[in-house]
Order: sequence, then C-alpha cells, then structure tokens
Amino acid sequence: MNPIELIQTKRDGGTHTPEDLKEWIHSYVRKEVADYQMSAWLMAVFLKGMTAQETSALTDAMVTSGEVLDLGDHFEQSADKHSTGGVGDKTSLVTIPLAASCGVKVAKMSGRGLGHTGGTIDKLESIPGFRTSISKEEFLSQLEVLGLVIAGQTADLAPADKLMYALRDVTATVEALPLIASSIMSKKIAAGAKNIVLDVKYGQGAFMKTVDDAVRLAHAMVNIGQHLQRNVVAYVTDMNQPLGHAIGNALEVQEAIDTLKGQGPKDLLSVSVQLASEMVSLALSMPLDQATETVQTSLRSGKALEMLKQMIVHQGGEWEDTVDQPKLPIAPVQIPVIAPVSGYIAKMDALAIGRIVMGLGAGRIRKEDDIDPRPGIIFHLTVGDFVEKGQEYATIYARTDAEAEQAKTALDPTLTFVQESLPASPLIYARVTTDNTEYYTA
Ligand code: URA
Repeated sequence: MNPIELIQTKRDGGTHTPEDLKEWIHSYVRKEVADYQMSAWLMAVFLKGMTAQETSALTDAMVTSGEVLDLGDHFEQSADKHSTGGVGDKTSLVTIPLAASCGVKVAKMSGRGLGHTGGTIDKLESIPGFRTSISKEEFLSQLEVLGLVIAGQTADLAPADKLMYALRDVTATVEALPLIASSIMSKKIAAGAKNIVLDVKYGQGAFMKTVDDAVRLAHAMVNIGQHLQRNVVAYVTDMNQPLGHAIGNALEVQEAIDTLKGQGPKDLLSVSVQLASEMVSLALSMPLDQATETVQTSLRSGKALEMLKQMIVHQGGEWEDTVDQPKLPIAPVQIPVIAPVSGYIAKMDALAIGRIVMGLGAGRIRKEDDIDPRPGIIFHLTVGDFVEKGQEYATIYARTDAEAEQAKTALDPTLTFVQESLPASPLIYARVTTDNTEYYTA
C-alpha cells in the first residue's frame, strides 16, 4: 500500500478494499504512516464518505489494531450497552444492573465525561472507594463470579481509535458519520460482547443535533454489527432536555439508585427498561415483550438494586446498609432557583444546562482535568409541567456561594416558558434493527 495513492483514491471519491484499509490502519498504529497523512485521509473521508462495506472494514481494522477481549463461555449470553452521550444520562447505572439481574452477562468498559456530557466512570467514582481501574484478570474474574463488571477502558482495546480520535479532534474531522460509527463500534466490538444495544441520542444536548442524523448513525452502526457478526439494535432517543431530574455525578448516582428502588423519574425509567429489555431479549433469545416483563419483575423484586450493590461492593465502593445505598458525597452549598414567570415549561436547553453544571466543577474540558463529584443541579419540574411564578423549580448544588449564584443567574435563560401547554414529543423516537426501522409516537 502506497499512502499517497490511498489518500488520492479517497480524495477522488474512490473506494478502498478491506485489505488496503487493514494495512493502512495497522501501519498507522505501527507509526509507519505519518499523522499528516492520516489527517489528509480523514479529511478525504469527511468530504467523500464511505460505503457500508468500507465502514465495516474500517471498523474491523480498528478492532484488530489491538486486543479483543475474550469473554469465553459467556460470549453468547453477553450484552453491552452504549450511549452516544448526553446531559443527565445515567441510564447505564439503571439498565446494566437490570439486565444483569435477569441473567445477561455484562462486562462493560465505559468512558469518562467530556465537554457538556457525563460519563459512567466519573459517576461511579463519586462512590468512595469504588475502583474503575482494574486488571484484565480481575475484570474477567468478576464477570465469572457476579456476571457484572463495569470498568474504565484499557489502552489495549482499539488503539487505532484513540490515535485517530485525537487527530480528528484537531483537524475538524470529528463529525463524519463513517468515522463516528467505526470509532464507537470498534471499541464495543473489541470489548468482547456478542450483543450490543445502542442509545443514539439526538437534540440540543447530544452529539447528533437532528433526528435524521441520529437515525443515519444508528443504521451505520447496526450495519457494522451485521458485517462483523454481532447482534446490534439501536434506539434513537431524545436529548433536547436533560434525562431525569439530576445532573452532576453523585446526584446522578443517587437518582439511579432511587430509580432502582422504584422512585425515579418516568423518562429515565422508561428508557432504561427499554434498553435493558432489548439486552435481555438479544442475549437470552427471548421475545421482546417477555424480556420486558422479566425486567419489570426484576425491578419490582429489588433484584436489580441488589445486583448493583454487589457490583459496587466487589469493586471496593462503600455501601451503607442502614439506608441501602452507596455512600455519596454532598455539596456544601445548596440554593433554590425560583421561576421568574408562571407558565408551562416548553424547552430546557440541555447543552446550556450541561455547560452550567460543568462550570460548577462537575465536568472537564480536557481528558486529564480533575472533576468534583458533588456539584450539580436537581430540577423539580420538567418539559410540559406548569410552574407558578415564585415556585422553586430547581436546586443548585455547589462548592461555594459564588459558584452557586453564578449558576443560578445562568439557569433562567435555559428554560422557555409558554402560556399554552404543548404536545409531548416522543422520548424514544425509533428502534433500528438490521431489517426494520420502527418509529414511535409520544
Ligand atoms: N464517540 C466516540 O467514541 N467516537 C466518536 O467519533 C464520537 C463519539
């Protein structure tokens, strides 16, 4: 393979063979292709696109650039879940124990939050003592004993993605559909699960701003699964407003626990049950409606909460038996936010809200930044609710009075109040499989 010819082929709108793509990606990881050559090629892909076959071959090349986790006897009954990220998205903390408590084997590698979106690893690390950095041996042994483990991603999985993502980030080539799809799917496939359920978020607080782009991304990832012998189902869900009421790491763990105790917000519960049901259906070969009943029974019986507790304790986290939940840190300053007018809440700008929570110290701009698990916001009302002027609609949790006041001033403009109630839009917009796209109404 000649790097210049390969770049020329894509620049001129041509297609690559799987062999060329494998050699290209593997040579890059071995440092035989220069960053400037990879950057030129990434831009050519951004401008000219890739066929479905090329996107799958690229994913395969990225998977085989490093280690692929072998889940052994658990492969057939294994399932993983991935969200493209959003604000207040603590779905994994509810979905994963729900699915595992029904017998699905879950060995999940999760990421940290970046920018306005949160990450499961940061949320779990708000529990004192909880270890997210564990060896491969411990990871697999916990899967054996408990059937559930969540840890941070190791550098050995899909190393090509790590290198390419860093380049995309600084060469304006992040937003290319084949590059996003192969980046996400290479990490999921390398993590070893046979069945994968994706939550592709769309809207202001999401990576994909329009529902059409989210559906296209969902299709691209489901296609990759089909080419690489994984069962993949993707849901397209709304991220125009935060999911649930809590945003901020420790606050979100608390909300996930409340949801597993049957006291969580409806939207979070509904997305979590749907995704868990899909995991159960795929991994245990069960019709979806039967899987949903199994998941709901597990939720009601407290089995899913017990599963999460077992995982937290196994990984060193502190569990307080008297209140049956993990120990969680609390922000020292808490102030109410009062509605400036009466009206229905028509919109909550998830992106702006995510940024306010970041400003409170809960998020990071660069991967190496430190975060504080305590700050955040709890909304007491959501889109569609009526609020009276002077009513407390949110509480801000902050490290200092000054940070709390700053967040309070910034919060009001993120909400839109109207005088007439508006029709609700669907929380779960579509379900995408290899043979079908099903659209839902509210
Ligand atoms: N998330 C990923 O892992 N990769 C992308 O390219 C975009 C979002």
